[in-house]
Amino acid sequence: MKVACLTGGGDCPALNAVIRAVVRTIENAGGETIGFLEGWKGAISGDHVQLKAMETDEILPKGGTILGSSRTNPYKDKALVEKILGNFKQMQLDALVAIGGDDTLGVASKLFNDYQFNTIGVPKTIDNDLSSTDFTFGFDTCLNTVMDAVDKLRTTAESHRRIIVVECMGRHAGWITAFSGMAVAADAIMVPEKETLIDDVCDLLKARRTSGKKYGIVTVSEGATIKFRDESGNIKTLDVSQSGRKDDFGNIQLGGIGKQVAELIKYKTGIETREVVLGHLQRGGSPSAYDRVLGTRLGVHAGRLALKKDFGKMVALRGMNIVAVPLAEAVGQMRTLPLEFLDEAGEFLR
Ligand code: F6P
Repeated sequence: MKVACLTGGGDCPALNAVIRAVVRTIENAGGETIGFLEGWKGAISGDHVQLKAMETDEILPKGGTILGSSRTNPYKDKALVEKILGNFKQMQLDALVAIGGDDTLGVASKLFNDYQFNTIGVPKTIDNDLSSTDFTFGFDTCLNTVMDAVDKLRTTAESHRRIIVVECMGRHAGWITAFSGMAVAADAIMVPEKETLIDDVCDLLKARRTSGKKYGIVTVSEGATIKFRDESGNIKTLDVSQSGRKDDFGNIQLGGIGKQVAELIKYKTGIETREVVLGHLQRGGSPSAYDRVLGTRLGVHAGRLALKKDFGKMVALRGMNIVAVPLAEAVGQMRTLPLEFLDEAGEFLR
């Protein structure tokens, strides 16, 4: 059996763990694996590398993806889809393992539906916002990165009696912000799923200062829903997409809300407030043990699905087990942060 794999969308720690596991599982069964370079872009151009089990042990601790990634969308042009189908045939491939988020897996699912293309999906994202799987690999490493950064920010915030606003990634889901906020004892957590009135946060920060906590940590999602009262008492909403740029899949580029939040807090409380945008730091670095193991298990099961010719499926974590779910069910539905979690975090936010 000849299997191809590719990694698409924003990179995340433990992509290489999945690649290694697919290669090993296929090789153990006497097959071979190639890797298309830079996501769907490589599947279109045919650019690829040969992957050998004995050369992939070293990649397990490595962040990012050895194959490179892109946000190329072949469905923008029918000719690009035909190129993929042509390459698949010409290279005598039997299966394609697509490792990606909703956009990459959405393409895999369409290829399966439209052309019975032999695809298998592996869910990845630091955002943890994919439905049909309990957790995505990359999320845990990302949380540890945010936690480490905020532990450092805390000491300087405390020394200077400042408030530090930490802007986290996560698009329209607040998983990273809320989980890391809980892990760092944040004073306020602002996420897309629940509206925050900044005036309430300012009251809380002032009250905490009065009762002895001389600094503050606020975690805010890049896509948070935040309102504030202007000088005339009108409620206004902060703009989360100031750049107005979109990617190939139509996702709007977020970023910049941390600065707006910090300025408002400073203005409304009179307390010196700074912002730190963690940005792509959150996607980098060596994967945590949890992510290495999850990525490896998903990769083994994706390889086994390929060997069984059980296509059109995505491997997923359900409780302790790895299961296969139909790709079509798994894509197109963002999984936002459950409000119950915010309720638990809320004990520390008042
Ligand atoms: O989906 C992962 C993610 O890191 C989001 O949290 C973020 O909004 C986006 O990708 C950034 O993408 P890019 O690196 O293409 O700007």
